[in-house]
Formats: sequence, C-alpha cells, structure tokens
Amino acid sequence: MSMKLLVTGGAGFIGSNFVHYVYRERPDWQITVLDALTYAGNRANLDGLGESRVKLVVGNICDEKVVDTAVADCDAVVHFAAESHVDNSVHSPWPFVETNLVGTFRILEAVRKHKKRLHHISTDEVYGDLEPGDPKFSESTPYNPSSPYSATKAGSDHLVRAWIRSFGVQATLSNCSNNYGPYQHVEKFIPRQVTEILGGRRPKLYGTGENIRDWIHAEDHSSAILAILEKGKIGETYLVGVNAEKTNKEVLQLILKLMSKDADDYEHVSDRPGHDLRYAIDSSKIRNELGWQPKYTDFETGLADTVAWYKENEAWWKPQKEETEAKYKELGR
Ligand code: NAD
Ligand code: TYD
Repeated sequence: MSMKLLVTGGAGFIGSNFVHYVYRERPDWQITVLDALTYAGNRANLDGLGESRVKLVVGNICDEKVVDTAVADCDAVVHFAAESHVDNSVHSPWPFVETNLVGTFRILEAVRKHKKRLHHISTDEVYGDLEPGDPKFSESTPYNPSSPYSATKAGSDHLVRAWIRSFGVQATLSNCSNNYGPYQHVEKFIPRQVTEILGGRRPKLYGTGENIRDWIHAEDHSSAILAILEKGKIGETYLVGVNAEKTNKEVLQLILKLMSKDADDYEHVSDRPGHDLRYAIDSSKIRNELGWQPKYTDFETGLADTVAWYKENEAWWKPQKEETEAKYKELGR
C-alpha cells in the first residue's frame, strides 16, 4: 500500500538513514521530513533523494501549528526528532526537556486530532544500566533512566503509552541500542574517534573504557522500524538490537586496527558523570513476532564500511568538527 510518511528528525543521523532506506525499499511512498535543522541536523543528509518523493519542511516539533499542518497531510508519522547526546544533556538539560517532552506532546496531540498512525523511536537508555552478567534488557524491564537525555526519552515513552491508553492513539514504540553508520554527528563515540585519527590527533577514551554498548548498524535499525510500521501490533513496544556487546576500549582498538594505528595510540580523558556501565538488548520479540533479521551481523564489517564512509566524506564532517571539539574542551574531554 502506498503511504505518505512524515519523518520528524529525518535530517539527523538515524532519521536520514531511515529516509534513504524507505526511499529505496518502498519506491511508491512519499516522504516529508520535518526537522528544525539544529546543530545535529543537516540538509546534506538527504542529498541524492528525488524532490518529487522527498520534501524537507524546516520546522520545530514544539510548534503546534507546524506540527498540526504536517501531521494533517500524512498517513503515518515516524518520530525520531530529539536532542540525542548524553554529554550535552548533562551540560545543558533544557533543550532535552523541551524537544523530547514538549515536542513529543505536540506530535501526540496532532496524531490524536487527525487520527494518524504513529511510530515513536526510543532508546535502550531508558532502562538505565546493567552490571556485567545481568540479563539483557527486554520489553518488561522497568524504566530507570540515569541522564537528562534518557530521563526525557523515558518521559516521552510514558506520554506515548498514556495517549495510547487514554485516547486510543494508534501507536507503536521501539527502543534500540547504540547505532553506528554514515551521517552520524562527530560528537558521538565512533565518528569522533575516526575523525580524530583522520585529523592526525589521538582518539579519546572516557575513564577506563570498560563501559559496554550493544552496537547496531543504522540500516538494520531502519529495517526494524519499517517492519514495525507495517506489521507491528498497535500499543506494543519492540526492542531492537543485534547481540553485539563490546567495551568502548574494544571498539576503539578495532577502529585503530582498521585505520592502521597501534592498539595503544589513544588518550584516556576524564569520565562522563553518571556514566552508564552496560547496555544490552534482547531482541527476541521483534525477531519471533515480526520475522525481522539484521543484515550486519558482523560488527567489524559494518565498522569498516563506516570508517570508509568518513574517509570519503570529509567535506560532510569537517564543518562540524571544530565546534564539536571546542565543546568537548569546555567539558575537559
Ligand atoms: P540526531 O541528534 O543525529 O538527530 C536528531 C534530529 O532531530 C536532527 O536532525 C535535529 O535537527 C532534529 N531535531 C532536534 N530537535 C528538534 C526539534 N525541536 N524539532 C524538529 N527537529 C528537531 O539523533 P539520532 O542519533 O539520529 O537519534 C534519532 C532518534 O533515535 C532519537 O529519538 C534518539 O533518542 C533515538 N535513538 C538514538 C540512538 C543512537 O545510537 N544514536 C539509539 C537509539 C535510539
Ligand atoms: P555515545 O556515542 O555518546 O553514546 P551513549 O553515551 O549514548 O551510549 O558514547 C558511547 C560510549 O563511548 C559511552 O560509553 C561514552 C564513550 N565515549 C568515549 O569513551 N569517548 C568519547 O569521545 C565519546 C564521545 C564517548
């Protein structure tokens, strides 16, 4: 069935990967991206997509009128727009409260009014962190967020569930693990390290580097979202991950190896306050109920592709780099 999709935050990292994926996989769908083009959004992320099928509306999800108009004109909304970086949230929480909570409220009110399908994108960080050896997060793990980022994402998930229950909004939710791939802002772990090395500097590991993240390629996240949008059960939550737990030190040393550097050619910098120790996803539900399967089951292959993308796309990341490192300098990291 042909669809008119509204993708909030579609000029950001995962949102733009999703727009490219849907553009390829569903050639008869129309896509409108609603994005405020904050420091994290970039028009260039949508380059190469035909204007007859993909339209960018520059606007804020906290703006009631903008959201109402955009939602009225679509069949379904996939809601990515968020402030997404933990370090920024510890330094300056207000934009997180505004976009992640107030913005999600605006989206919910508009889909309620216009009776539109919604898929809400969330994160595994809402569950807090695990000790090594603890069972992985599942759909029934209690919420226990640690940072202003994860607390506002947790709040947005609660709003979505309340709108489903109280107002019958037709929505699904997904909580995914750490993404990597093309178009990720250089403030995030993997692109920061790759671009530090490309710029002739040493990469930066927080604390001891023993923190564990469960890495998924953004293309696999995109295929999971499309599966939920088309086959997911209204009211349900699906956890998305590919069983790729790695310590930060392991990831960094793999990047160093892929970029022909010595394994100890990095710096230890001060740790993030409240740094979550481990995230890990049990994705049996989406695999068993929706038949979803990832493409990138080998992390090293996906990481090598990503390193190659940053090597080939210096013109894309260079303009963000100086400002990002200036922010980190202020944080002492
Ligand atoms: P990102 O920061 O790269 O992109 C966010 C996008 O939202 C940007 O294009 C930005 O301009 C836009 N935006 C921000 N505030 C806005 C506002 N008020 N109005 C309109 N647009 C606004 O983030 P990302 O890493 O692509 O994450 C996208 C979503 O996926 C977020 O909801 C995030 O919580 C979730 N998520 C991210 C990860 C990850 O590893 N990055 C993992 C799981 C879930
Ligand atoms: P990040 O990409 O910010 O994702 P999140 O904190 O949401 O999981 O960071 C991933 C991990 O990498 C996290 O444990 C913090 C760590 N990290 C570093 O060691 N060095 C860095 O320069 C950055 C940005 C992150």
